[in-house]
Amino acid sequence: TFMADVEKIKSFVKAIPDFPKEGIIFRDIFPIFRDPSAVEALLTHIAHHVQSTTNEKIDVVLGLDARGFLFGPLLALRLHSSFAPIRKKGKLPGSTISASYTKEYGVDEFELQADAIQKGQNVIIVDDLIATGGSAYAAKELVEKAGGRVIEFVFVIELIDLKGRDKLGGNVYSVVQY
Ligand code: ADE
Repeated sequence: TFMADVEKIKSFVKAIPDFPKEGIIFRDIFPIFRDPSAVEALLTHIAHHVQSTTNEKIDVVLGLDARGFLFGPLLALRLHSSFAPIRKKGKLPGSTISASYTKEYGVDEFELQADAIQKGQNVIIVDDLIATGGSAYAAKELVEKAGGRVIEFVFVIELIDLKGRDKLGGNVYSVVQY
């Protein structure tokens, strides 16, 4: 069932104290991939959520560099959507559009291939985890620059205290919250 899937997925997320530095509890999603039934539960759960909350056809799933690339193509396949990566500056060939965002230390820049989204297309933005929401917000800016519509943000994990969802203005779904 929908809730049993959440409990199952949660049981595969490992907490690693003091990584990458003291005081941070790192939420590791890689153990999910050690068990195909956990991946199956996760994808079925997210696809069911998307299909039960929007009547819109999802044209494009965008995955955020780097762990969004693990979930994005799988979700795109389930939704019969295309997939495109949003990458750190300088990695994508051809014509790109870009948006900057603030990280813990300094500023970084995201890029999207200019022809990955057509005007008016419906887009879902996917990442493994939402912390402050800075990178997801930059992804939304890229979608809007390209003339697309962000239907929803989907995360496997949400760090509630960091209030990232407030930055994104609604339409944020997470499977597991800490
Ligand atoms: N990215 C930002 N905070 C994180 C955390 N606590 N665990 C994993 N990835 C993160």
